[in-house]
Amino acid sequence: MQLDDLRENWENYGETNPLWAVHTGRGNIQWDESEFFKTGEEEIDRILSMLHERGAEPTRDRALDFGCGVGRLSQALSHHFDRVDGIDISAPMLAKADEFKRANDDIDDERVQFHLNTDLDLSLFEDRTFSFVLSLIVLQHMKPEFSAKYISEFCRVTAPGGVIAFQIPARRETAMLRLRGAAGRFLRRIRQTVSSNGSAVMEMYGTPQNRVEKILTDNGMRVVAVVPDDYATSWESYTYVAIRD
Ligand SMILES: C[S@@+](CC[C@H](N)C(=O)[O-])C[C@H]1O[C@@H](n2cnc3c(N)ncnc32)[C@H](O)[C@@H]1O
Repeated sequence: MQLDDLRENWENYGETNPLWAVHTGRGNIQWDESEFFKTGEEEIDRILSMLHERGAEPTRDRALDFGCGVGRLSQALSHHFDRVDGIDISAPMLAKADEFKRANDDIDDERVQFHLNTDLDLSLFEDRTFSFVLSLIVLQHMKPEFSAKYISEFCRVTAPGGVIAFQIPARRETAMLRLRGAAGRFLRRIRQTVSSNGSAVMEMYGTPQNRVEKILTDNGMRVVAVVPDDYATSWESYTYVAIRD
């Protein structure tokens, strides 16, 4: 899927069932909003304690949430960072993100900003801007050549001493699990089609671990941890943590 198609796809999800498309969760097609945002708080608590355990705790200056969707993680990040920038390729997702932000009295409007970015780079931000860059359940849905470009941009916008954490699958799981995965994908496909009025699809892609690590080191980062995760059903998936020394 080319970048324009990817954008149209996520616009479609943003217009039809944004919460479900952001987090398919327990298979719910309709989320309770407070339950939905609670998953973001839990996710960020989990990520920050994982970083703490690995000795990669970022300073709490400015965080970037790449592929922020409706702001599930951006809102949660704002409880830990002075400023949060969420960026997304889908204008309807961002419209919802702003709506949810305004409706939440716990969020300081000024400290959370959402930006539309339809380019294959992060040129709206200068080099070394962020103390923390996060991306969960985003890179898995785009071609490896695109995710590689964004990962190198994550490195560029990370400040000295800053930390990057992102999730991306490496490859499909093997034999038995693949069979189970095929059944799961079939069911998910039906649910996805129902929840997007039939025209959007969630493609899945993987990038081998050594290739991801090379992108990070080639761009001046030190890889601190590669943690197996379960974000991508029937795929071997990892959360990469890297520091700019
Ligand atoms: C499954 S949602 C996850 C949202 C958020 N990370 C979360 O966990 O709540 C994926 C999001 O990534 C966005 N996205 C996909 N490709 C993108 C790209 N090339 N640049 C920016 N955002 C992108 C989609 O519009 C969508 O909002």
